[in-house]
Amino acid sequence: MKSFSSSYSHHYRAFRPPLHYLILKNCLGKKKFKKTLDIGCGVGNSTIALTNFSKKVIGYDINKEMLKNTLQHKRVSYINEWSNIKYDLLCFFGSLNYVQQNEIHNFLNVLKPSGYIICCDFKIFYNRFIDFLNLKIIKNKYDYEKNLGSYNLANEIKQINSDSMLLNFNCNIKEFVHLILTEKNIKNALIELMGEKELDIKIEKKIGGLINSEKLNLDAMGYYTLQKKI
Ligand SMILES: C[S@@+](CC[C@H](N)C(=O)[O-])C[C@H]1O[C@@H](n2cnc3c(N)ncnc32)[C@H](O)[C@@H]1O
Repeated sequence: MKSFSSSYSHHYRAFRPPLHYLILKNCLGKKKFKKTLDIGCGVGNSTIALTNFSKKVIGYDINKEMLKNTLQHKRVSYINEWSNIKYDLLCFFGSLNYVQQNEIHNFLNVLKPSGYIICCDFKIFYNRFIDFLNLKIIKNKYDYEKNLGSYNLANEIKQINSDSMLLNFNCNIKEFVHLILTEKNIKNALIELMGEKELDIKIEKKIGGLINSEKLNLDAMGYYTLQKKI
């Protein structure tokens, strides 16, 4: 499991782009669920977005630092301990890359027969910024399109639908700094270039020199796969 330290939880809580709802809406349309489990909920951005599709949403995360900073909603609760309540939708939003083969059955066991699984993610295009700073990024094996087809579950699930979409959002410079500091490989390259001390302030100054407006406009690619328990 990739460790998400308290600094990640701080940046996640400070700003996430408003993309979760758009991707879920593209995938789920008018589908409604009674009880959803958001696996790897982080600080709850995906969990809150899921309230548009589910009466009750439970956010589960292995990381207590993330759960200390969660967004609150009257139909949402968060758990860190595993329980055997049954759900009619499981959601992995940006979390499936960290889930091991030996964990997957624990999750599938709490899904009702004919229940749905949604795996989604978004990839933000930072190229302009990376090129401007001439950052040397070490590529990782992260798969934005990962779904339960990557596990050995051929007779247990079937695929319903899968798609990707180009998205776009605005943020200010401070929000951008929070965003980029959640990207581990970019953060490492920035530390290499600028040192760790007051990194956020240094990035803010650099970005200020790159653009002449307060707002940044960023493209992202959204991905989803909808699967169903057989
Ligand atoms: C990139 S964050 C995504 C957070 C949230 N779903 C969102 O869309 O904003 C991935 C989260 O998955 C959690 N995670 C990683 N491995 C996990 C596991 N095996 N079980 C539950 N959560 C896990 C991490 O602690 C982290 O909070």
